[in-house]
Amino acid sequence: MGRKFTVRLEPVGIEMEVDEDETILDGAFRQGLMLMHGCKEGQCAACKSFLLDGEVDLDKHSTFALPEFEQDEGWTLLCKAHACSDLEIELINYDEEILRSGIALKTVTTTVQEVDELTHDIRRVVLRVAEGETFDFRPGQYVDIQIPGAEQHRSFSMANTPSNDGLLEFMIKLYPGGLFSGLLADGGIVPGDELRIRGPYGVFTLRDNDRPLVFIGGGAGMAPILSLLRAMAENGVARPATYYYGARTEADLFHLPQLRALCGRIPGLRFVPALSEPANAGDWAGETGLITEVVERRETGLAEVDAYLCGPPPMVDAAIALLERHGLPEGHIYYDKFTTTADTEESSRV
Ligand SMILES: Cc1cc2nc3c(=O)[nH]c(=O)nc-3n(C[C@H](O)[C@H](O)[C@H](O)COP(=O)(O)OP(=O)(O)OC[C@H]3O[C@@H](n4cnc5c(N)ncnc54)[C@H](O)[C@@H]3O)c2cc1C
Ligand code: FES
Repeated sequence: MGRKFTVRLEPVGIEMEVDEDETILDGAFRQGLMLMHGCKEGQCAACKSFLLDGEVDLDKHSTFALPEFEQDEGWTLLCKAHACSDLEIELINYDEEILRSGIALKTVTTTVQEVDELTHDIRRVVLRVAEGETFDFRPGQYVDIQIPGAEQHRSFSMANTPSNDGLLEFMIKLYPGGLFSGLLADGGIVPGDELRIRGPYGVFTLRDNDRPLVFIGGGAGMAPILSLLRAMAENGVARPATYYYGARTEADLFHLPQLRALCGRIPGLRFVPALSEPANAGDWAGETGLITEVVERRETGLAEVDAYLCGPPPMVDAAIALLERHGLPEGHIYYDKFTTTADTEESSRV
């Protein structure tokens, strides 16, 4: 353990102690404070905050998340910053309800129960928490799974709700050469194997209000949105909601019966799948085009909604730009970007 410093978080007026060896975000998690975050790897900018006073050391991060000129102005990434003195930090993105609502982080052992093919490049993985252990989370959150035989971990969002006692369901995209997903692709992870997970992380949870909901997702980004929709069905939430899901071709669509069944259970829900590259447009009766184009064509009151976005970073960035262009305030946009290690490597700074 290193030197200890006091961090004052404004404008909420919370003080906490951090060790110089831990990031400010980890120090906050340790003390049950769920500060805004996404990747925890310096890639997504969700934890970007302003240093009002004091000095920090920054670990390797993406210069897309924190360009050099912003760092010079005083901006920092809490998931990569270590305190070198007492600090005063202004939180830019914060939600007091979420901040104090963190479930204590836990590391547990799980056993792989199922690995199924959802599409040619997305697998459904179900883990069972070890006998005698419990693992709680909020719908929309994610865990870090330790890569077998390696030091690193990867983040994956739960697709189910905590009501499936002891089971955690994931949708995992296969990347060529991917350290974790490569194991799923080539039989390196099979039912019966043990995996260590840590969590729950994430603030992609349903805020309690009456605003209409717009969900926008692509690829394995269906996972946390499905978790939110399943929780809405379980809790009888009837807010008007539309789920726009973008895929390239019909071969990339999956879980259509499950989504139709959810539309039957959630009175206000409509599901709108769209194909950006329909191989034979004649056979596809649904929407076509980029998912952001489809949302723009169909939605008239985007300034009034709560928007939940999840999927590859370019899709999420395009959706944020669209929503802001239509006057939706930043505070009503919630997102998880599925960044990968390649996002840091291509644009990194130590
Ligand atoms: C909050 C959060 C939640 C997430 N939830 C999910 C989820 O529910 N489902 C899901 O599928 N994913 C999710 N992800 C992404 C996931 O964590 C992994 O990043 C992803 O699965 C890739 O991991 P991997 O080990 O398979 O591949 P990696 O080893 O990380 O490699 C990914 C790809 O990048 C390439 N690559 C690696 N290093 C470099 C480099 N230096 N230069 C160029 N290319 C490189 C690899 O060849 C590969 O194609 C989430 C990410 C975050 C941040
Ligand atoms: S959580 Fe810090 S950059 Fe993503």
